[in-house]
Amino acid sequence: GWWGSAGLTGLLWALVSTTLGVAVSPQERLLLKALGLSTKPSPTFPAPVPSVLWKIFQQRTDPATPANEQDRACRVEEFHVPGNIIRVFADQGNFIHSGAPDTWRCLEKRLYFNVSVLEEGEPLTMAQLEIQFSHNSYHPSSWGQGFELRLYHALQMSLRGMSSQLSSQKLLVGQSFAQLHKSLLFNLTEVAKSWRTPSKNLGLILEISVGSRNGALGLPPKRLQNLCASIDSFLDTSLLVVSLSQQQCKASRKRRSSYYAPVTPSNLCKPRRLYISFSDVGWENWIIAPQGYMANYCLGECPFPLTAELNSTNHAILQTMVHSLDPEGTPQPCCVPVRLSPISILYYDNNDNVVLRHYEDMVVDECGCR
Ligand SMILES: *[C@@H]1O[C@H](CO)[C@@H](O)[C@H](O)[C@H]1NC(C)=O
Ligand SMILES: *[C@@H]1O[C@H](CO)[C@@H](O)[C@H](O)[C@H]1NC(C)=O
Ligand SMILES: *[C@@H]1O[C@H](CO)[C@@H](O)[C@H](O)[C@H]1NC(C)=O
Repeated sequence: GWWGSAGLTGLLWALVSTTLGVAVSPQERLLLKALGLSTKPSPTFPAPVPSVLWKIFQQRTDPATPANEQDRACRVEEFHVPGNIIRVFADQGNFIHSGAPDTWRCLEKRLYFNVSVLEEGEPLTMAQLEIQFSHNSYHPSSWGQGFELRLYHALQMSLRGMSSQLSSQKLLVGQSFAQLHKSLLFNLTEVAKSWRTPSKNLGLILEISVGSRNGALGLPPKRLQNLCASIDSFLDTSLLVVSLSQQQCKASRKRRSSYYAPVTPSNLCKPRRLYISFSDVGWENWIIAPQGYMANYCLGECPFPLTAELNSTNHAILQTMVHSLDPEGTPQPCCVPVRLSPISILYYDNNDNVVLRHYEDMVVDECGCR
């Protein structure tokens, strides 16, 4: 490598590690705040990473993907909506009723997604509910009827405040299925917007029943039980929410030129390689991916006369001239980042939700004398 690179990187790294190694250092708090987190998450029951987020993350980090960073700071192109944060909320609702043999309902469940983590001034631009089954469920062919799925928007709790006693609910979706698919998606953008006022978030009621109420009434209990048993593959529900952190969007820069800093031996101002490993800073239990990244840093001299490659400002050129005349009184210009590029990070937030977020200015691409 170039002069002193290993030693310097090691020293820098030791500094960063000691400041971050402690449980709650002011530096760590600052960094977490910059990442939009109040405290360091410590996932207790981390949900598996939704495949849709993995897919987007991998596409974004694949060097073969033509990246338009300008757009990515303010748009989630994968869903064609404005945004730079994708969160997948786990369902926190309880089962209200599960398949008593003498009723026509196979499953009745409250769905609840705590979206309060979205900050004020962070518009929600998309919300998509996914209902998953572990496999496609078929109803026995001897019966002419399929399943009926109903989704209600809970609007008002009854005076008793019991979760199962909603005094007002609005039907959002009513669909019949001859066959339940592995995954059903519903557009809940408008509903999720109303949930941003916590007192208005009473969740949803999901109801899966055998055919219609009338059709099922005549069926013997054993038959109903069998029919309901065939949809016992009900797995989980989750809510994917896209929002726009306007701060990130405003900070957006030009697209990056190169991912890695060049390695040529010189003591002039230029980017130096620095790999930041999240496990070294003790963040491996909540950052899912990447495990680390090439952040780089700027180091080197800004000597007189400054050349064009040093990306100087007129002010820096004058400063080196003054410095050459009066080295004691005026310092050399500083070697600082002049072009940075973003990365995407996949992590668990303080509520164990999985988040894919775009961060500006995480990688030093170019340095200059300023
Ligand atoms: C929702 O999450 C916030 C923290 O983000 C928490 O303070 C609040 O109690 C949660 N609400 C419910 C109903 O779980
Ligand atoms: C979802 O619904 C919102 C508002 O109702 C609408 O603007 C948006 O285009 C819909 N998204 C999709 C993918 O259909
Ligand atoms: C200055 O900018 C040019 C391109 O704009 C780049 O190739 C060069 O590496 C930069 N210089 C430094 C020291 O980063």
